[in-house]
Amino acid sequence: MKPTRANFLADALAGLASHPRTLPCKYLYDARGSELFEAICASDDYYVTRADLALHETHIGEFANLIGPQAHVVEFGSGAGIKTRKLLAGLDRPRAYTPIEISAAALAEASRELETSFPDIEIRPLRADYTGDIASEHLALDPPAARRVVYFPGSTIGNFERAEAKRFLQRMGRIADANGGILIGVDLLKPVEQLLRAYDDSEGITARFNLNLLERLAGELDARLEPEAFRHEARYDADHRRIEMHLVAQRPTRIELGGQCFDFQAGESIHTENSHKYSVSDFRELAASAGLQSSRVWKDPAGLFSMHWLEPMAA
Ligand code: AVJ
Repeated sequence: MKPTRANFLADALAGLASHPRTLPCKYLYDARGSELFEAICASDDYYVTRADLALHETHIGEFANLIGPQAHVVEFGSGAGIKTRKLLAGLDRPRAYTPIEISAAALAEASRELETSFPDIEIRPLRADYTGDIASEHLALDPPAARRVVYFPGSTIGNFERAEAKRFLQRMGRIADANGGILIGVDLLKPVEQLLRAYDDSEGITARFNLNLLERLAGELDARLEPEAFRHEARYDADHRRIEMHLVAQRPTRIELGGQCFDFQAGESIHTENSHKYSVSDFRELAASAGLQSSRVWKDPAGLFSMHWLEPMAA
């Protein structure tokens, strides 16, 4: 389940051989990458985390009313964050909390901290890749909770292509009860300059975060490459309404990996991440296509970020 060196190598070889070249964004988050991501979240130019947190602070009472008493909260992600604490502290006697996370270390640490802070909530960590199917027996409680809700803050939904996002929402819908729902963070469309600044911050943290992938190829997969030949670039793709991160070769250069050579011309790039942006109505439509009704939406005062409460549509 944990991506092994062999998985990483196979994914890197396949991505580098494809055109355009890609590397899966999940490999951005090794220990160093996660540290850099935390620093991105604290940076002035990356508005996402601040806006998301502000929405939690302002609307926690409404979230709690919608979610209702004695819910089982299932978070896609480790729940290490301050947002999870805000949510659990604000709900009416939550019955249980299940973080789903692939990294055993992150899962154990978050669970330990939450157990200490919330002794009355049953913390039931589940080690799994939340982009895959989650067997319902792992989520069953005896006796069952009043309702099961899925919590997915932070706009990670933006990493998925729209067709994948739909399938992912459908899977979330199967986890939520008929009387439950999904509380999800979605980053909003906004002027391109503002997006580019957030994904190419003036301190260069996002650049280091992206370039760290090359260091992983060299350090973990013994790739031979010239890291200084590549530059971080954030691009806006208007057709797909998404920010893309790329590693762009500044001059002709070569990556040797697993006995194969990948030659880059100057200007050729490796596409490392997508971050799709939605209007409120775009996301409503996407949710509806997955059988979910967006019955409440919150935006921060500056209109940067949104949260949706999605409910399964009656069959
Ligand atoms: C963690 C996926 C929400 O897309 O905004 C931040 C990742 N990449 N800066 C995002 C990210 C570059 C982030 N998510």
